[in-house]
Amino acid sequence: MQQAGAPRTIDVRGKRVLVTAGAAGIGRAIAEELAAGGARVHVTDILATSVAEAVAAVPGLTGTAGDAASEADADRVLDEVGARLGGLDVLVNNVGIAGPTGQVDSYADADVQRTVDVNLTSHFYFLRRFVPLLRASDRDPSILAISSVAGRLGYGLRSPYSATKWALVGLVKSLAVELGPVGIRANAILPGVVSGARMDGVIAARADASGMSFEAMRETYLQKISLRRMVDAADVASLALFLASDLARNITGQAISVDGNVEYL
Ligand SMILES: NC(=O)c1ccc[n+]([C@@H]2O[C@H](COP(=O)([O-])OP(=O)(O)OC[C@H]3O[C@@H](n4cnc5c(N)ncnc54)[C@H](O)[C@@H]3O)[C@@H](O)[C@H]2O)c1
Repeated sequence: MQQAGAPRTIDVRGKRVLVTAGAAGIGRAIAEELAAGGARVHVTDILATSVAEAVAAVPGLTGTAGDAASEADADRVLDEVGARLGGLDVLVNNVGIAGPTGQVDSYADADVQRTVDVNLTSHFYFLRRFVPLLRASDRDPSILAISSVAGRLGYGLRSPYSATKWALVGLVKSLAVELGPVGIRANAILPGVVSGARMDGVIAARADASGMSFEAMRETYLQKISLRRMVDAADVASLALFLASDLARNITGQAISVDGNVEYL
């Protein structure tokens, strides 16, 4: 309960949180925001060096190096979360890769398979292992899936990515129906054009595929956004903090955008 007259804060004190691919980028911002709110946060990342850096930089953070799309690695994460946190209240399935850029008939089969494995199948690996822990939680347990604006709009030249991100919306809506009766919430966050190195890479790949300069392609991205600016990882983390908190205790089955209103892709 807040004290009368005190500024309202979002309280996630003591919540046990797992963020996949949480050592850098949006996942790192979510991990830091929740840790700053008092949560006990464990991250995974495919890069052991990134896990070590994150654990050293963020007080209280723990982590496991591993590929989110590997069943054996997911088993190790389960063991380590059990040992470190002793249970789980919030599962943030954040992992996702850009996948190939180009015409649909130009993709190598292996690139499509890898995109589906990392962006979609990994979610099921973590759900199978961690939903039992969420069922045992009495602290408003919830699941967050990090989808994308490409999970509500079509995204030409990036169909494997877009297909997996739409799939996550179907996944959380199904989870909300299935797990709502036992008190587990499930929502998707759809970030838009997030400033940073990853987006620079996406813009560069698209500029190459379309024969445009990087600057011209960057400008075409801004023209698609009603607010004419990119969002930051911190904007996404703010929504994650809210959705993970008790303030959102009646929000489930939703796909919520943080994107300045991207009008088309
Ligand atoms: N950055 C954007 O503009 C943007 C926009 C919309 C949605 N998203 C989504 O947000 C999520 C995070 O994106 P980001 O831009 O922060 O990612 P990123 O490319 O910055 O990568 C974040 C971390 O993921 C790790 N990683 C990559 N593959 C992994 C794997 N198989 N297993 C475990 N860790 C792995 C990387 O080592 C890195 O530390 C993704 O699901 C992405 O699709 C990003």
